[in-house]
Amino acid sequence: MEINGKTRLCGLIGNPVEHTLSPLIHNTLAEKLGHNLVYLPFPVEEKHLEDAVAGAFGLNVLGLNVTVPYKSAVMPYLTEIDKLADEIGAVNTLVRSEEGYTGFNTDMPGLFRAMQSDGVKIDGESVIILGAGGAARAVAFLCASKGAKEIFLLNRSIEKANEVAAEVNALYGDKVCAMELNRFRELPKWRYLAIQCTSVGLYPNADAAVIEDEAFYEMIHTGYDLIYRPEETRFMKLVKKAGGAAYNGLKMLLYQGIIAYELWNGVAVSEEAASEILDLLKEKVSVS
Ligand code: ATR
Repeated sequence: MEINGKTRLCGLIGNPVEHTLSPLIHNTLAEKLGHNLVYLPFPVEEKHLEDAVAGAFGLNVLGLNVTVPYKSAVMPYLTEIDKLADEIGAVNTLVRSEEGYTGFNTDMPGLFRAMQSDGVKIDGESVIILGAGGAARAVAFLCASKGAKEIFLLNRSIEKANEVAAEVNALYGDKVCAMELNRFRELPKWRYLAIQCTSVGLYPNADAAVIEDEAFYEMIHTGYDLIYRPEETRFMKLVKKAGGAAYNGLKMLLYQGIIAYELWNGVAVSEEAASEILDLLKEKVSVS
């Protein structure tokens, strides 16, 4: 693509950003769809976050992604916040409007679209969420809003699990039951969709899973791990060993990017283009 006087800029703000796969997603999409657009990573120090958002607006930047540790911290600098992002309390996508940027959360719609593309449903399911950090909190909102029958939120520290459960239940009724992680044997013996939202098992600690006991995995018909490095986490291996289906977080990464791209450019990205980009992401992850 030729960079010229009409090239639009999008980018990622966060710290660190060196290992991001987002430029691969967005620059490939721009090339495939023939958009005159470039996507760059911007490492931003916390003390410069407000300036970064104002500066991007001043420079006519079309849109930004926001990653760790600014998904909540960036919210005061936005002119509007989408309802879902507001509920979740985190934005990962800024879309330019006349006055400033509107904040969206495409992580959760991204996970939902990834699940749909894998044929995994939430509606009517009994769900176990492992973890109670930022990611687990958003997943709990997603599952409650998409009609999960009941949700067990298991975390090492019960205080955090209770907080997340109370927040979700305030909006969706008594959907979420908080539980200490090591009490998983008290779960009703149903068949569950389990979504792994802790950082346990993330590269380079690839030989760890947040629950090791095989009895736990016998209750899981489908396991989703938000981690995608390594490609097959120990959690996924344990799910598969017990006969369940297991997926990593790479498709979620793909679709959160695609939804952001669609918001910035007012287009719909085809499933064909999505699957080509997924192949590129897989290649990149397996090499790194
Ligand atoms: P994120 O924003 O990705 O969700 P986070 O907010 O730091 O990250 O949350 C990390 C999650 O992984 C938490 O649920 C954390 O459990 P605690 O709340 O008890 O800290 C969980 N976690 C991290 N290391 C863990 C470990 N060794 N065993 C069990 N849970 C762990």
